[in-house]
Amino acid sequence: MRAADDDSRPSRGSRGRPPLLSLARLSRYTLQQGSRVALYTLHSEVMRRMNRRLQKDLPDTPEVVPDGPLPGQRRMLADIVRLFAEDLRAVEDGLYPMPTDGTMSPRELIATSRAFFRDVPDVARRRATGAHQEVNGRTEGLADALPRYYRQNFHFQTDGWLSEDSARLYDFQVDVLFSGATAAMRRRALVPFAEILRKKDQRKVAYADLACGTGGLLHPALAAFPRLRGTGLDLSEPYLKVARERTPSRRASYVTAMAEDLPFADNSLDVVSCVFLFHELPPRIRRQVIAEVAQVLKPGGSFLFVDSLQTGDVPAYDGLLSVFPQLFHEPYFTSYLREDLTGLCADNDLQESWMVPAFVSRVAEFRKSGHSVQ
Ligand SMILES: C[S@@+](CC[C@H](N)C(=O)[O-])C[C@H]1O[C@@H](n2cnc3c(N)ncnc32)[C@H](O)[C@@H]1O
Repeated sequence: MRAADDDSRPSRGSRGRPPLLSLARLSRYTLQQGSRVALYTLHSEVMRRMNRRLQKDLPDTPEVVPDGPLPGQRRMLADIVRLFAEDLRAVEDGLYPMPTDGTMSPRELIATSRAFFRDVPDVARRRATGAHQEVNGRTEGLADALPRYYRQNFHFQTDGWLSEDSARLYDFQVDVLFSGATAAMRRRALVPFAEILRKKDQRKVAYADLACGTGGLLHPALAAFPRLRGTGLDLSEPYLKVARERTPSRRASYVTAMAEDLPFADNSLDVVSCVFLFHELPPRIRRQVIAEVAQVLKPGGSFLFVDSLQTGDVPAYDGLLSVFPQLFHEPYFTSYLREDLTGLCADNDLQESWMVPAFVSRVAEFRKSGHSVQ
């Protein structure tokens, strides 16, 4: 595992304050995150039982074969706890405010939970029959203008990226998969972000989040940094519609565009982020995205990256990573696992300055050479 290789910033996550956590914050945080873990673990367990029952009436699926060690439940729980501890430490260090995850109203929570369970049989049917191209035949809206690799039922999800129903369910589904730890994994990227902003006037920082989805990183970033403006870019109109609805601030703007053909001028952005995009892209497109990011970043600008762990990042997870594309429609995941991101970025003048694992994610910062002027 590589971590904080460089680093002129060894204190990342700690600004030398006494390590005493405020008891009130600790209690609030523990209650908030603990109830999220409980909620999503419960959903995962119920879904597992539903799937077992549904399976009886569905064609047999090939046996899932891990290609490496699998982390036990205890190890995974310990890694989630470590992630939360780091998240809370960053709050204590004043890098970003106390998170507001899980502030869905009870009504919204019940409606989303019901929609989630209603969708389980359709996902199970797609998994059992290998039906992952349902959205490809669609012609309404923008669908037929979208690239072929994009028009698939990723994860076997209903409508792929192409409906509002899918956008409204997405975050809940991801949290069921990651036991409620998704937002905390994304927030690891706010640690280098906070340090970048420490030296700058936030109002003058040009920032874009690529493949922003429903605003998973853009929204917490704007909440954390009160003068920052940001642009969320995504190829899915319905996901952007939901992102707009959930926007916490007028400092956000949105654009429908492809990450491999960015609508920004060369050398115009200080910070570009992207979360959970690269494993969804064919290798050729990944290369194009990296080249585009390098082109639109200013000299000295930063590319903040969050995506799945790769093979070898945390060897205890290698088997689990190999199982993922056997359970979900993830056509490009296996190639992602072995992609040399550090090398690809370096080829495009983006030097990796930091990389840490965060539960099942890797979080990295790449810097474009040169000095930023502000
Ligand atoms: C797994 S979701 C991640 C969403 C969000 N970043 C998050 O943190 O949850 C992948 C997102 O990437 C978008 N996407 C996939 N390929 C894209 C591309 N080539 N250009 C722009 N967006 C893309 C999808 O529409 C979807 O919103």
